[in-house]
Amino acid sequence: MAPKKIIQYIAPFSIFIIILLFIYDIWSHGTVDHPGKAGYVANCSQCHGENGEGIKSLVPPLNHSDFAIKNLDSIPCWLKFGLNHPITVGDTLYDQPMYPGNLDEVQISNIINYMNDEYFNLDKHVSPQWVSDRLKGCK
Ligand code: HEC
Repeated sequence: MAPKKIIQYIAPFSIFIIILLFIYDIWSHGTVDHPGKAGYVANCSQCHGENGEGIKSLVPPLNHSDFAIKNLDSIPCWLKFGLNHPITVGDTLYDQPMYPGNLDEVQISNIINYMNDEYFNLDKHVSPQWVSDRLKGCK
């Protein structure tokens, strides 16, 4: 077989391999963890749970939390300065304190975006700037 003929067979095959590598690359990068996930697991999941389910009547759930969705603008203040008054999430009353945290604007925005995607079903992306603007208004 002449070398030219061999190339004719190899070329389409290599294109096929390149396409496969491409698909694999997109697939593997598409499953990389959300940037806010590590922050959530390290700072929130011990109370709110790996899946935002909360703890019985002690810690409210984040998953589909009507309260959090309605008060999204206040979340930066809660995370920075704590939250300590009776609240109703779903139809349960919660009244345990959430203590102030030690997170910066970047970490808070990543965690809020993680919750928007995972728990709140909100098609909203917040920036560190959005977080610092909200922090200026904390009472
Ligand atoms: C020590 C346990 C604890 C940790 C850690 C904690 N929380 Fe909370 N969180 C609570 C409790 C308890 C409440 C209810 C506070 C109240 O009733 O005033 C609450 C309330 C909330 C609420 C409002 C209620 C709801 O379920 O929608 C949000 C949102 C929230 N936490 C998010 C977070 C995020 C995000 C983190 C991590 C950065 C975090 N919490 C870390 C215990 C905790």
